[in-house]
Amino acid sequence: MKEEPHIITFNKIGTPNLGYISVAEVADNIPFDIKRVYWTYFTPNHVERGNHAHVALRQVILSVAGIINFELENVEGEVFKFTLDEPNKGLFVPPGYWRKMRFSHNAVLLCMASLAYDEKDYIRNYDDFKALKK
Ligand code: TYD
Repeated sequence: MKEEPHIITFNKIGTPNLGYISVAEVADNIPFDIKRVYWTYFTPNHVERGNHAHVALRQVILSVAGIINFELENVEGEVFKFTLDEPNKGLFVPPGYWRKMRFSHNAVLLCMASLAYDEKDYIRNYDDFKALKK
């Protein structure tokens, strides 16, 4: 079955008085074995990050603080837009999606990834990406 980008809602354990804990756990709410975790921060408002696609990488991406807007496009030209504005909201990004992200300045993006970093897994040229359409 074709994988599509979608929101994963994590449990919020706690109360407004005490605060919350959310948990990401392989085989429970993460649909792959996590091989790598990275985070990005202090991205100015006017900067657009991303502008690449991945060949095989699967990701679940959270905004642990702040707001992150995502635009995802597949080779067929279907566009998916998501706003990560709560720390218990994750975005599953399958392989084959061109992504653009914009951040509130306080945003901290946390990514759980299915593979180690490998520049060969990146498609960084939009025309090369669109040429993958059969
Ligand atoms: P990149 O994935 O292009 O970031 P973004 O899509 O957020 O703009 O990565 C930016 C730089 O960081 C690039 O030079 C590769 C490097 N990098 C690593 O060395 N290891 C990693 O795990 C990641 C995600 C990036």
